[in-house]
Amino acid sequence: MPKHSLPIRVAGSIFSGGGLGDVGIEWGCGIPVITACELLPSRAALIRKNFPQTQVFEGDIWNLKKDYIDWFREKLSGKPPWLISLSPPCQGMSSNGAGRISSAIRCGKRPREDQRNRLILPGIEVLEALKPDWFVLENVRRMENTIIRNEMNHPENILDCIGRRLLPLGYTLRSSILDFRNLGVPHHRERLVTIGCRIPKVVSQFAPIKQIFSKETSPLHPAKTHGGTNQPPWVSLRQSIGDFPPLDAQNNCVDAVDPYHCVPHWNDQQYFWMKHTPEGQTAFDNSICLTCGREKQSKEQITCGSCNHPLPVPQVKKAGKLRLVKGFRSSYRRMWWDKPAGTLTMNSGVISSDLKGHPDQNRVLSLREIMKLSTLDDGRWRQRFDFSGIPLGKWDETGAFSPRLVREVIGESIPPLAMKRIVDHLVGLEGLYR
Ligand SMILES: C[S@@+](CC[C@H](N)C(=O)[O-])C[C@H]1O[C@@H](n2cnc3c(N)ncnc32)[C@H](O)[C@@H]1O
Repeated sequence: MPKHSLPIRVAGSIFSGGGLGDVGIEWGCGIPVITACELLPSRAALIRKNFPQTQVFEGDIWNLKKDYIDWFREKLSGKPPWLISLSPPCQGMSSNGAGRISSAIRCGKRPREDQRNRLILPGIEVLEALKPDWFVLENVRRMENTIIRNEMNHPENILDCIGRRLLPLGYTLRSSILDFRNLGVPHHRERLVTIGCRIPKVVSQFAPIKQIFSKETSPLHPAKTHGGTNQPPWVSLRQSIGDFPPLDAQNNCVDAVDPYHCVPHWNDQQYFWMKHTPEGQTAFDNSICLTCGREKQSKEQITCGSCNHPLPVPQVKKAGKLRLVKGFRSSYRRMWWDKPAGTLTMNSGVISSDLKGHPDQNRVLSLREIMKLSTLDDGRWRQRFDFSGIPLGKWDETGAFSPRLVREVIGESIPPLAMKRIVDHLVGLEGLYR
């Protein structure tokens, strides 16, 4: 896009994934995301494919931050971008982990730390250099308690670090947990969303504070649209995918018409355990013997105490002996038709992961279903997101796309509808206080 034709509001993203958050900003709010930065080649290729105008920096932000900043400065002739969105892959931390890191640093030792938690540092450097009017930082909800080794090698809470570096630049900052079900997203996803603004009229309305985290949703964050009094209820699985054609993890893994409506195959054992698991329940709680009808006596039991037939509970052979699978009771579990879907993770195709079973068909959710539940493919955007032709692992049966890529980028994304609602709210605030 030539400089003179740039709209008033332009955005950039860092840690852009496959660009799903960017769908909400660009296709949803009409604000072009003119540059992105992503480490993984398959995801960078996905952004290029769906946003051919976007300048994609492919690689590690530690190495690319200068190029990213220089490119933006040149493109905007030194003016600040309107928005930068960042989703650094911070893992979040329990207070135990935080204490261990702090004490190692205080003893002068290099702590055993998850390097991903330090990726916020180059992110902050980009914000310091470009000073966007707004930024939206999205992360796991436990980030609020995360201690990192900061740029001076000192232990510091990640939100304190953001405040220490950005408040002096004129930002007002607020950090709250958003449950995206409350914004009309039909699956459960809670994220810590930190919003910064340095537009003077907005800053004077929402004065800078040091404790940027609040349990209540801050006024910089969008208010809930679903699930409250006098509001529509959360969007359920039934409303979202209730009309999809049936599939089966052994006998009908791919829809005849839509290759994206496809699921992985289950082996005989998985199929047996899940076939006898009711909606909302886990196979671990199956307690009736299918041969003699007797109830099991103990939780650990894997064969019937009366007739010795196997019970439909998850079991493995270890050292020649069958035993109950060690796992969380949230695994091998079916979702509920009348609730939003469980959190869509990178493992949405794996039944041994948390809450992944279809409510009443013997299978996990298909790619088409997770595309709809993530709000990427629910008919509201100006075009269809295209996964075709980008390799990652095995191709689908038609050789057109990678099922793994679809599951991974959706599992790591901010749902486009949630991003749209957040950014619409910022546009609205700016209009109110202009
Ligand atoms: C949580 S995902 C972001 C998803 C994105 N917001 C979306 O909606 O699709 C974080 C992304 O950061 C990328 N990433 C990890 N380390 C990085 C690095 N050092 N430099 C640039 N990107 C990185 C990961 O590959 C991943 O795609």
